[in-house]
Amino acid sequence: MLLGASNVAKSFGGVPALIDGQIQLRAGTVNALCGGNGAGKSTFLGILMGILRRDAGSVVVRGREVNLSSPAEAV
Ligand SMILES: Nc1ncnc2c1ncn2[C@@H]1O[C@H](COP(=O)(O)OP(=O)(O)OP(=O)(O)O)[C@@H](O)[C@H]1O
Ligand SMILES: [Mg+2]
Repeated sequence: MLLGASNVAKSFGGVPALIDGQIQLRAGTVNALCGGNGAGKSTFLGILMGILRRDAGSVVVRGREVNLSSPAEAV
């Protein structure tokens, strides 16, 4: 697995924006993240891109847990 995220959560001012975010990405695949308005898609991608810090959960890249702190690091 190239990238995996599990149980990812993020709140803003105590209001949950993302609960139990999960995704698994394999090399050579194309993935879509779908959901209604306010479902938490941008929040989730912001976490995966190092723009937002998650409150809980894990993000694993090539088997190693990461705490991304910038888009440059995420790329
Ligand atoms: N910086 C923020 N401060 C406060 N609340 C936020 C912030 N960012 C997102 N939220 C809230 O968190 C929830 C998830 O928002 P998010 O933008 O991640 O959803 P989305 O799936 O990308 O929605 P859309 O389809 O409208 O782009 C929404 O209720 C939103 O209002
Ligand atoms: Mg969005």
